[in-house]
Amino acid sequence: MNQTITRVPVAHDSDLKARTGYAFKINDEEIALFKTSSGQVYALENRSPHPKGGVLSEGLVSGEYVYCPVYDWKISLLDGKVQAPDDGQVRAYKVEKVDDIIFIVL
Ligand code: FES
Repeated sequence: MNQTITRVPVAHDSDLKARTGYAFKINDEEIALFKTSSGQVYALENRSPHPKGGVLSEGLVSGEYVYCPVYDWKISLLDGKVQAPDDGQVRAYKVEKVDDIIFIVL
């Protein structure tokens, strides 16, 4: 099978503020981009897995986690896993950086 990998440029790394989330739409997918205080950039599906479906790009970034702005679920930026005692998963996207440009790999 032929799988096409698409790399979509979404931002300049130097424009991103630490501990901040940014929302993007690629095709029909809502994606949240986050930069941690250590300068790493991660991307998750921009929706909490909770039925209320909070917008994660508006959440609080702390370490390698984002806290959903609605009910405060703690979600890993690395793999999109909701941390105990809550349970769930959002899609995590691969992020690549070439020079100053951040790409999301679909
Ligand atoms: S909407 Fe409930 S934890 Fe995010």
